[in-house]
Amino acid sequence: MQENLTGAAGLTAQRSYSDSGLTAKRSERHALYLAPMEDVTDPAFRMLCKRYGADRVYTEFVNADALVRDIASTTRKLTIHDAERPVAIQIYGREPEAMRDAALIVEQAHPDFIDINFGCPVNKIAGRQCRPYTGYRQNPPRMG
Ligand SMILES: Cc1cc2nc3c(=O)[nH]c(=O)nc-3n(C[C@H](O)[C@H](O)[C@H](O)COP(=O)(O)O)c2cc1C
Repeated sequence: MQENLTGAAGLTAQRSYSDSGLTAKRSERHALYLAPMEDVTDPAFRMLCKRYGADRVYTEFVNADALVRDIASTTRKLTIHDAERPVAIQIYGREPEAMRDAALIVEQAHPDFIDINFGCPVNKIAGRQCRPYTGYRQNPPRMG
């Protein structure tokens, strides 16, 4: 049995039911991105999402200062596998210099993209570790 669906963003999908369960076949019109999620988008989750149709996946955000200080629990987050490509590594931080140095470290992991988190609204980030970054959103020249 098949059913055509149209979502709010105009995405059309074909949902089909089979003995093996529900599968959805997306149209070619839109790419499907797995959003970066702290403590969620680890390699296993990313590869699962890839297997079930994600076109592009993101790591969780990776703290620039911790990367520069070579903190093992942070550098581990740079682990990516060819099976999940194209994959983006997302970084965030306080100071442009640390962001630059972190980007150079991230490059060595060979992601397909480096994504910069320019102002996560979550209190832990916006209110403490990363206050200057929320400032970036009100000060675009600082972003450069
Ligand atoms: C548990 C959780 C962790 C998240 N971590 C990040 C993150 O590391 N970096 C980021 O840019 N956004 C993060 N987000 C925001 C998501 O990427 C996404 O933008 C947000 O959930 C809105 O998308 P939605 O409307 O599909 O839920 C997180 C969201 C959740 C729920």
